[in-house]
Amino acid sequence: AMVEKGAYRHFMEKEVHEQPDSVQHTLSEYLDLVTGAAKPQSVDFAAVDRIQIIACGTAFYAGQIGKYAFEKYAGLPCDVEIASEFRYRSPALTPGTVAVAVSQSGETADTLASLTWCKAQGLKTAAVVNVHTSSMAREADVLWPTHAGPEIGVASTKAFTAQVSALLALAVAAGVARGKIDATREAELVKALFEAPRLIAEALQMDGQIRAIAHDLAKATDVLFLGRGAMFPLAMEGALKLKEISYIHAEGYAAGELKHGPIALVDEKTPIIALAPLDEVYEKTASNLQEVAARGGPVVMIAPASAPAPHGAGIRRVDAPDCHPLIAPLVYAVPVQLLAYYTAVQKGTDVDQPRNLAKSVTVE
Ligand code: G6P
Repeated sequence: AMVEKGAYRHFMEKEVHEQPDSVQHTLSEYLDLVTGAAKPQSVDFAAVDRIQIIACGTAFYAGQIGKYAFEKYAGLPCDVEIASEFRYRSPALTPGTVAVAVSQSGETADTLASLTWCKAQGLKTAAVVNVHTSSMAREADVLWPTHAGPEIGVASTKAFTAQVSALLALAVAAGVARGKIDATREAELVKALFEAPRLIAEALQMDGQIRAIAHDLAKATDVLFLGRGAMFPLAMEGALKLKEISYIHAEGYAAGELKHGPIALVDEKTPIIALAPLDEVYEKTASNLQEVAARGGPVVMIAPASAPAPHGAGIRRVDAPDCHPLIAPLVYAVPVQLLAYYTAVQKGTDVDQPRNLAKSVTVE
């Protein structure tokens, strides 16, 4: 059936609003809401020594969020690489590695070639894909589906949060299988994950606050996105989204790396968007923001209202829902997507079909 925009102005807007459902549906593939348990997987995580994630574009950032979760919750070493690099550099892989392709379409040429190469090396392979009949879905030993449904907007949104949902849930499953997560912790983490759809819906209510920020962002020529932990890859995804649809130059940086270069760019014309959930590194991020504000940078801090205010002039707050740190990348994805969306709308670009970009890059 043909997918329609309905009451929405763009497919991207519609897809951003579908995320409570697509995340719920994807989590249910891997976790049992009733028993509070992670479903057993055909990959024996206890016998795996390393995960190698391979992806392009937005899927690469989802993979990086997955890495933080596999290492933190499962003690499982995980590397993530851009497929076009992985494919041509002769990577050294150990036999206990599982190669995981992450892809919305399941057809991206570089990711598919990397997956095929890993399989030929004798590695176990898996594919986190949204199109379940795709080449990657058929090629991989294990299919780890996402349930975002068809995504029409070229800028990926609900496919991204579905990938993150699958990877977070699999990290919990791996932690259980490896004895790193006991039954109490498993129930806590599964419960936290199933709170994501409701908190994503709450984050969609940030619409008005984000529109006001986007109004100013549309005048910028350069924007910096900052975050620590899983908010670092999300900052890069935020910068990518803004570049793709508003054509404003943006960079995502690890907040702690700011002083090693990008702080030189800070002036009153360079907006800084900080993703600052109340987690173990909140205070560190807040102090980085004080440093930028002290140099005249206009800072927008996206954080829960309960987060202690960093002192310094020029720090504007946008209130995000309170959430468990595990699901912060899902909840904070929403303001990041809305920011790009409203900035692009303000600039009058072709949101669903940005210039020079393709939904799926099936040739090199
Ligand atoms: C293109 C799309 C991106 C996407 C990337 C990877 O560049 O415009 O939105 O993230 O390809 O696509 P895949 O289908 O492999 O996730």
